[in-house]
Amino acid sequence: MLNTDTQYLHKKSGKPTKEDIEQAKQRRDYSFFKDIFESAPESTKAYVLRKIGRLPEDFRYEIFLDLLPTSNHNIKALTVKNLGKSKNPFFIKHLKEIAIKDGNANVRRECVSSIGRIGTNLAVPILLDFLNDRDARVVVQAIRGLLKFRECDEVKEAFMRMRSIENELISEAIEEALNENTNKSQSTSKHSDNRFVDYFENTLVCGDCIQVLKHVPDESIHLCFTSPPYYNAKDYSIFQSYNSYLDFLTDAFKEVHRVLKEGRVFVLNTSPVLIPRMSRKHQSKRYLIPFDIHPRLLEIGFDFIDDIIWVKPGPSAKNRNGGFFQQRKPLMYKANSICEYVIVYRKHTDRLIDWNLRQYPDDVVQKSKVTGEYEKTNVWNITPSSSKFHPAVFPKELASRVIQFYSFTGDCVLDPFSGFGTVGVSALELNRSFFLIEKEVGYCEKFLENGAETLFTTFLTYEQFIEKMQNFKGLSS
Ligand SMILES: C[S@@+](CC[C@H](N)C(=O)[O-])C[C@H]1O[C@@H](n2cnc3c(N)ncnc32)[C@H](O)[C@@H]1O
Repeated sequence: MLNTDTQYLHKKSGKPTKEDIEQAKQRRDYSFFKDIFESAPESTKAYVLRKIGRLPEDFRYEIFLDLLPTSNHNIKALTVKNLGKSKNPFFIKHLKEIAIKDGNANVRRECVSSIGRIGTNLAVPILLDFLNDRDARVVVQAIRGLLKFRECDEVKEAFMRMRSIENELISEAIEEALNENTNKSQSTSKHSDNRFVDYFENTLVCGDCIQVLKHVPDESIHLCFTSPPYYNAKDYSIFQSYNSYLDFLTDAFKEVHRVLKEGRVFVLNTSPVLIPRMSRKHQSKRYLIPFDIHPRLLEIGFDFIDDIIWVKPGPSAKNRNGGFFQQRKPLMYKANSICEYVIVYRKHTDRLIDWNLRQYPDDVVQKSKVTGEYEKTNVWNITPSSSKFHPAVFPKELASRVIQFYSFTGDCVLDPFSGFGTVGVSALELNRSFFLIEKEVGYCEKFLENGAETLFTTFLTYEQFIEKMQNFKGLSS
């Protein structure tokens, strides 16, 4: 029988409140739960199972067993999850049976996760069996469940055998499991070492970015936003082949990866490029740069985070429609390109973004909050900029969004292909500092002439940079 108070609340509102659930739990009012599990609508059952939270050790978990025959996958998964909160090995056999027989992937994963949470020795052989499961996410749950037994020979051997498995979820979980001890002892990160960016605050170096970056210490930079040369589209970038162009970018981005701090962001603006035909007898060629460089970035050790499409107003696009417009013949259609890609990557780390946030004092996080309206979709409508001094400048709006979304006040932003220095100007306006590299002396001069000197910029030739680096090393050794 229901206790009258609880019955009243339950019937009156149709759905118990969080407080009702908490009180029933504390009073060990099992009839409250039984009543709901037997006769309440499915949505109420699911709500209670979700809100029940932590359970006292002496809670009678058997009340959940009545829900297991349900055909509702959501309720079954939530029930299984609650059984995992008990430390009672008695439930392992129920969970194992469901994990083997159930047709729903989520239910099976929750079962294996709960077996791991119950975590007695009895769970070990069962979890070892699930390492061979067909569903990689079930395997990952089994790996997690086995972590606390990883000193046991059988588990260690199983983990070692699994190192060659190709599936990325499994191999990541296995590497984590095997490296956990080493990682713990090496968990000091250089996140808070800002000596380089303080010493080279707001510097523009005129030189080749790969050569310059090679001297920058590991994990010094907070954010990199850049737009590299677009293969052979402009005079400042002439490469022997598309492949040698991709190799060049790969080398530059390896350095970017090394100098970025752990878990920090690299934002890359590129777009497909058209190499015009040499004559009417030849074909023009289009290269999909962002898609071709993407696998190389993953290989370097970046994780893909977001694909933002920067859309420019229609009239700013080069018209490629002339031929088709006149003749309307299939195969002749060519779309006017009005967008570029702004792809967001994060330097791989096992740490969550929360860890990055915790590296900053509260007042810095508060000051860095992005206030007011902001773009909620991955389509950013921004009018492009033009400059008589540089053929491919960023609009400041683009740089300023990226800097606000992916860095904190006081951080240092790197642009290794800085051109006219748009990233530097935006960084300063947003109370960040910059480290810019540009190989063309003419563009550096224009940046300086256009007021950058008043922006407290230090301009260095490559040789001056090397000299200053020697001083820096002397001071920081
Ligand atoms: C697409 S533009 C960048 C424009 C820049 N985002 C702006 O707003 O002005 C690429 C720039 O990279 C420079 N560049 C090309 N190769 C370089 C290299 N190896 N090292 C440094 N800069 C380079 C080019 O001179 C060009 O100015």
